[in-house]
Amino acid sequence: MKTIHVSTGKPYDIYIERGILEQIGSYAKKLSRAQRVCVVSDTNVAPLYLERVRNALTQSGFEVTAHIFEAGEKQKHLGTIADIYNTLASFHMTRKDIIVALGGGVCGDMAGFAAASYLRGIDFIQIPTSLLAQVDSSVGGKTGVDLPQGKNLVGAFHQPIAVLIDPDTLSTLPQDFITDGMGEVIKYGCIKDRAFFEFLRQNDAMQHIEQVIETCVSIKRDVVSRDEKESGERMLLNFGHTLGHAIEKLSHFCGISHGMAVAVGMVLIAEAGEARGVTASGTAEQIVSLCRQYSLPTATDYSFRDLAQAAAGDKKTAGNSINLVLLHDIGSSFTQSVPLKDLEQYITTRGIYERKI
Ligand SMILES: NC(=O)c1ccc[n+]([C@@H]2O[C@H](COP(=O)([O-])OP(=O)(O)OC[C@H]3O[C@@H](n4cnc5c(N)ncnc54)[C@H](O)[C@@H]3O)[C@@H](O)[C@H]2O)c1
Repeated sequence: MKTIHVSTGKPYDIYIERGILEQIGSYAKKLSRAQRVCVVSDTNVAPLYLERVRNALTQSGFEVTAHIFEAGEKQKHLGTIADIYNTLASFHMTRKDIIVALGGGVCGDMAGFAAASYLRGIDFIQIPTSLLAQVDSSVGGKTGVDLPQGKNLVGAFHQPIAVLIDPDTLSTLPQDFITDGMGEVIKYGCIKDRAFFEFLRQNDAMQHIEQVIETCVSIKRDVVSRDEKESGERMLLNFGHTLGHAIEKLSHFCGISHGMAVAVGMVLIAEAGEARGVTASGTAEQIVSLCRQYSLPTATDYSFRDLAQAAAGDKKTAGNSINLVLLHDIGSSFTQSVPLKDLEQYITTRGIYERKI
C-alpha cells in the first residue's frame, strides 16, 4: 500500500491499494467517532460498489444510509445538494457523523460540499472511482456545484479526513472516461515532471496505474500543501484549463469531455507560449504526440476570437486581466497575467492548430 500525507491546514492521508474499498469500515473507525455514515454515490457506481462499502461499514459497527443521485454533470447543482441534506437530516446525522463519497469527481465535489455545509461542516472520506477523481479531484479539498451561469461557481474548500483509492474500480470505468482522465494525467507531467512525461510516452499508463496515480497525487499534494486556497502556485494545476473551459463552454458542455478539452487547451497554450518566445520550441509538438498516444484530441474548430471571448468570462480572470498557465518547457510551468484585451492576440498562432483547421 502507498500512503501519501497531505499537510494542509487539516492534514490527512491518501491511501492507494487494490481492494482498499472493503477496508473502509476499519479506516472510518480509526479516523472518526461517528455512529452514522451516509454514503453518497451515483446510479452507475452504486450498483457496482455500494453493497461492499455498506457491508464493510456495517461490520465495523456503523449505522449506514445511502444517497444515490442520477449520474452525470447535469446533476451537479444545488437541487441535488438539497436532496442530500434531506437524507442527512432524516437519518439524524450529527456533527460527529460522516459522509463517504463513493464515485467520480461529480460525486466527490457534491458529497464534499454537502459535508462542508451540513451543520456548518462535518467530516467526509473520499473513495474516488474514476481515473479523473483518483488522480486529481479527490485531493485538495475543492468541493462545489455548478450554476446555470457556469461550472463550479458555488463551493467551499473542505479537506476530507482520508482518501481511499482503489485502482481496481477502474476495471469497470468506460474507456471514454479513462481517456478523459488521461488529459489530467498528462497535465501533471507537463507542469511539474518531465521524467513522468517521458514515462507516459514510453509505457502504457494503465499497465502501471498505481504508479501513475501515486505520481499525480504526490504532485497535487505538494502543490496544495504549499497553496491550499489557490492564491499562487495552485493555479499551475489549471494548465490547459483556460482554453479547455472555453472549448467546453462553446460546445455547451456536451460533445467534448473535460479531459479532452484540457488536452486541446494544453496544445493551444503551448503553441501560444512558443509563438511568444516563452516556451521552448517543440514543446507543443511533444504534447500533441503524447495526447494522440492516449487518443486525446489536439485541435478544435473554434476560432481564436471565440476562444478568447469565452475564456474572458472564466472565473480565473482577475479584473481586466487573466492568469494564463504557460510552460518554460515540459515539466516547468509558470503563470503570466495577460490583459483581457490582448488575450486573442496572445493565443493566436500559426502553429499545429492552424495547420489542422
Ligand atoms: N474538486 C476538484 O479539485 C476537481 C478537479 C477536477 C475536476 N473536478 C470535477 O470532477 C467532475 C468530473 O469528474 P469525473 O470525470 O469523475 O465525472 P463523473 O463523476 O461524472 O464520473 C464519470 C462517469 O463515470 C462513472 N463512473 C465513475 N466511476 C466508475 C466506475 N468505477 N465504474 C463505472 N462507472 C464509473 C460515473 O457514473 C459517470 O458516469 C467535474 O464536475 C469537475 O468539475 C473537480
